Amino acid sequence: MASSVSTLSFAFSRLNFIPKPLLSSPLKTLKWQKQLLLTARHSPLFSSPSSSFSLSSHFSTIRNCISPKYNNEKAIPVEDLVVLGIETSCDDTAAAVVRGNGEILSQVVSSQADLLARNGGVDPKMAGEAHSQVIDQVVQETLDKANLTEKDLSAVAVTIGPGLSICLRVGVQKARKVAGRFNLPIISVHHMEAHTLVARLIEKNLQFPFVALLISGGHNLLILAHDLGQYTQLGTTIDDAIGEAFDKTAKWLGLDMRRSGGPAIEELAGEGNAESVRFSIPMKQHKDCNFSYAGLKTQVKLAIASKNIDATIPISCASSQDRSSRADIAASFQRVAVLHLEERCQRAIEWALKIEPSIKSLVVSGGVASNQYVRARLNQIVKNNGLQLVCPPPSLCTDNGVMVAWTGIEQFVVGRYDPPPPVNEPEDFVYDVRPRWPLGEEYAEGRSKARSLRRVRIYPSLTSLVQASLQQQ
Ligand code: KG4
Ligand code: ZN
Repeated sequence: MASSVSTLSFAFSRLNFIPKPLLSSPLKTLKWQKQLLLTARHSPLFSSPSSSFSLSSHFSTIRNCISPKYNNEKAIPVEDLVVLGIETSCDDTAAAVVRGNGEILSQVVSSQADLLARNGGVDPKMAGEAHSQVIDQVVQETLDKANLTEKDLSAVAVTIGPGLSICLRVGVQKARKVAGRFNLPIISVHHMEAHTLVARLIEKNLQFPFVALLISGGHNLLILAHDLGQYTQLGTTIDDAIGEAFDKTAKWLGLDMRRSGGPAIEELAGEGNAESVRFSIPMKQHKDCNFSYAGLKTQVKLAIASKNIDATIPISCASSQDRSSRADIAASFQRVAVLHLEERCQRAIEWALKIEPSIKSLVVSGGVASNQYVRARLNQIVKNNGLQLVCPPPSLCTDNGVMVAWTGIEQFVVGRYDPPPPVNEPEDFVYDVRPRWPLGEEYAEGRSKARSLRRVRIYPSLTSLVQASLQQQ
């Protein structure tokens, strides 16, 4: 017991909550602390009436800790905060500068599409090296495009997990270098929270609580978002994520993977007959909100073999009959993959409305949410339930720096950040990266009976860390 408590408190101390001794020392009160204290009280961002995590109570705690001499400073509105966001959790090196009012000042994404196409998937070591090669340039270009220098920033936000640790480390190292050198606070961001919250940047009226379906290459999550940092996990995948199934199907069909498999399948599916191959919908007998795509992948593989499709012949060189069988498989796969989402979303909405009857929206985000067929089908489900679909534009669904910067702003305003790191951090410094990091606690009634995965030891969820820290205040 004792050891688990100490692990947890270690985790809180590194979860961006203002260290009290620092705040109570006037000598150490820095420009960015004053800025935060003066701006956050006026934030229009967090006006969730049902919120147990109330902004005003949070800030009164902070204000009590600060020297009164700062209370007369001129307020800098939240709208004027300028946050740099850095994202390197998988195969995109991305950065963006976003203003507190949601204005995107610049964004740059350097994708590893060529590497991906050559290897047929992400190779962690190569991906890490590719991030290292371009990170400085990506951040510089982001600042240049915004017509800013580091001195104009209010804070730096960076994804610390989940993702590939070798890749996460590159972003975290860069963020800490910038923050240390320019005396800026640093904000640690959960990749899946960022995919969720970017919806609040594009839809300013999106209030907590809401339901979110997060669909990407590595994740398939249905969550109930109660508040910032507070999520209930209604469902997750018991094996592969939907994006992985799109990518493998594209590879086995010999499609051009340079834009990743999803867009290639979506395009080819437009030419095919979605009813022609009768794939079965996964997990029909399990009345929960969990997902499985491994079985569908196997069905696709068998269908490809039965039609003698040779993936070594690129689709561009295929005969018209061969092309049409590939298109039929792509369309049939896409239809069933999305039917699985539809069925799970319908149930998740029912569950979520029982827990939080005030829910009005379903957010759909993550790379796969850029698929127009996915959007159209889910829009129908949402409409049938009298809700609103909130789906970020495709460029904000796939991995990007904007979502990280924006999540940084949301956290910064409520005081979740770390002080600037030391200027010259040693090269061998052990960075806090969290490759496996759940977003929320599992909904007890939604636990899958089909769960086959061994429970691997993982980091405490973001939600449990936030809740524990709120109780400590
Ligand atoms: O969120 P994301 O950019 O990176 C991860 O966090 O994984 O998602 C990437 C995934 C890939 O599997 C890619 O094939 C898929 O999103 N994707 C799509 C589409 N665009 C990207 N899947 C289906 N249709 C699309 N148009
Ligand atoms: Zn992602």
